[in-house]
Amino acid sequence: MHTLDPPAFYRRDILAISDFSRKEMLYVVETTRSLDQHLADIRTRVRGKKMYYAFFEPSTRTRFSFVYAAKRIGLETSGFSSASSTSAQKGEPLKDTLRMIQGYGTDVIVMRHPLAGAALWGAENVDVPIVNAGDGAHEHPTQTLLDLYSILESQMPKRAWADIEELDGLSVAFVGDLKYGRTVHSLTTALSRFGGCTLRFVAPESLQIPAEYLEELQARGVPYTLHARLEEVVPDTDVLYMTRIQRERMPDEAEYERVKRVFHLTSEQLRHARPNLKVMHPLPRNKENLELDFSVDATPHAYYYRQAENGLAVRVTLLALLTGGIETPEHRRPAREAQPQRARFEPVEPGPGGKTRKYLFAIEDGTVIDHILPGRSGLVKSVLSLPEGVPVLVAENLESRRSASGRKDLIKIIGYKPSPTELSQIALISPGATISLIHDRAIVEKGRVVLPEYVAGLVLCQNPNCISRPEHLEGAPSLFRTISRTPPILQCTYCDGPVRQEDVAFLERG
Ligand code: CP
Repeated sequence: MHTLDPPAFYRRDILAISDFSRKEMLYVVETTRSLDQHLADIRTRVRGKKMYYAFFEPSTRTRFSFVYAAKRIGLETSGFSSASSTSAQKGEPLKDTLRMIQGYGTDVIVMRHPLAGAALWGAENVDVPIVNAGDGAHEHPTQTLLDLYSILESQMPKRAWADIEELDGLSVAFVGDLKYGRTVHSLTTALSRFGGCTLRFVAPESLQIPAEYLEELQARGVPYTLHARLEEVVPDTDVLYMTRIQRERMPDEAEYERVKRVFHLTSEQLRHARPNLKVMHPLPRNKENLELDFSVDATPHAYYYRQAENGLAVRVTLLALLTGGIETPEHRRPAREAQPQRARFEPVEPGPGGKTRKYLFAIEDGTVIDHILPGRSGLVKSVLSLPEGVPVLVAENLESRRSASGRKDLIKIIGYKPSPTELSQIALISPGATISLIHDRAIVEKGRVVLPEYVAGLVLCQNPNCISRPEHLEGAPSLFRTISRTPPILQCTYCDGPVRQEDVAFLERG
């Protein structure tokens, strides 16, 4: 085996590729390359251990390769390949199913589920490591590791992979359903950790890659281009990553009918391709739409069967690492910020006009919410649980020297102090609003509300397939990390979906 210091993999969850550094990903692929000579050792070390597979969605490659990988190193296996054969059919929540699997004794659970964030929610409810074998349209991290192996194997076979930082000018084009394609999301994230590559995204507008992935590429300085036509990218591409248009993820059947045959790669289209171009596809391809024509199979560019076969070796490595077959330090799960945090006040200097002006009347006890974005006072008022009959003054479109638009709204409430939850809501609806808490006619606290690092139990995730959405009845809480305060942008900790200020919707209070 190579001489890298082993990263902590023993008992580690494999939930999202963003949890892994470039070095850790390379450790997995480099270890896979030299796996065969260590199989006997691995078998001895994992003797008596078990892998359980819990597949709530269909699979050929991922499930079979995990099962064969487990058998290859001597792990006992059991599991299910369809939710309909389990009590999920009778309404059992995911966390109960996983608790039972853990209770009956297993060392690792490999799970696939239609809801984004299901693997993380699973990991929060059991102690054994969870491997995400695909969670809705979110992530497929083990597919990414075999994709990365296949890219390096086909494009850089002679390089030592362990310390690669630059991908030698490699051009990778993703084609098809980039909006719902979890393999595309995970591989884009993985490649963003490397320099020296260019990414191209080829899709109809309705299926283009979500903006947050492009923002990540921009932040990391990875160049990319967007395209609508396959012909635009074929001549200068090294890896052509085709994907299926996924009817099962699309909410609109009419839209599926419109885009289902938008791409059809044939051997003819590869006539002017670079000799080293490899066509990859996570598979399955769709035999009705044939985004990948059978004529490509016989060309030297076809790499998708080899790519899928690489999944077996990569998954042997992963199972050996997680169960201690290959010795690495034990991984400690990072603590989760499960508790609501207080929005805090950031002190504000008096405005350019000097003293705070008194609009209409001074109050003895209560709250003044000032510098509300013009037109947003109604929304701010709507999130306050004001007792009946409490006197409230709402003033709109007042002149303001502090605000960019020169206008502001203002609310004065007698005898009321907003709760920490309400302060977070105000910070989301109107960032920059200032709050003065008044007692005995004096301001006892004044400041701008600052969103906490994590916003818990407050905001509805915009992704209808996120496990945290109340209608899925899984009990997963709403928990967002704040990735920008001005303007406010939150990111769901389960599905990674963003919520921008204009889209904020609050959960109904129970
Ligand atoms: N690539 C992949 O996940 O294939 P399966 O759906 O067949 O597992």
